[in-house]
Amino acid sequence: MALLVACGRSDGGGGVRYPDHVAAGGNQPPAGEIKNPLPIDSANAADGSKVFSAMNCDGCHGGGALGWVGPSLVDGRWRYGGTDGALFQSIYYGRPRGMPAYGGILSPSAIWKIVSYIRVQPVPVTVPTESFK
Ligand code: HEC
Repeated sequence: MALLVACGRSDGGGGVRYPDHVAAGGNQPPAGEIKNPLPIDSANAADGSKVFSAMNCDGCHGGGALGWVGPSLVDGRWRYGGTDGALFQSIYYGRPRGMPAYGGILSPSAIWKIVSYIRVQPVPVTVPTESFK
């Protein structure tokens, strides 16, 4: 839903704002920002965990999202920025190197619950340094 709000804006060509990107001249382009509309609590995280298994996310990202053929989602490192909006977009639209788009089969609220689940996972003591191709 937040995505529709972001795309329906008339002031900025429908863009999405990434506040942690560097803006030329210090001027962020006009755009909407995608934020998790759900509280990150144990109920949403528990629901997200179920969707994560049911959608076979763990088949690629590993049990506990620790990383397998897909990158770890709990090591604190992100290819696509790591904001709530970036996670949502990765799941909703997919990513070019093998991440399927789930926006056609999952509701936005189910995706936000997965984001909540990912957010509450602790960063493991040791994380692999290998970068997945
Ligand atoms: C077929 C294997 C596969 C499945 C299934 C899969 N992923 Fe992915 N995922 C990947 C790969 C590979 C990447 C890296 C894509 C890239 O770098 O372009 C990725 C990237 C991501 C990213 C971005 C990570 C970053 O560092 O920015 C997120 C978030 C993500 N996946 C979440 C999920 C969730 C949630 C599910 C289940 C709904 C899921 N994935 C299912 C393979 C998969």
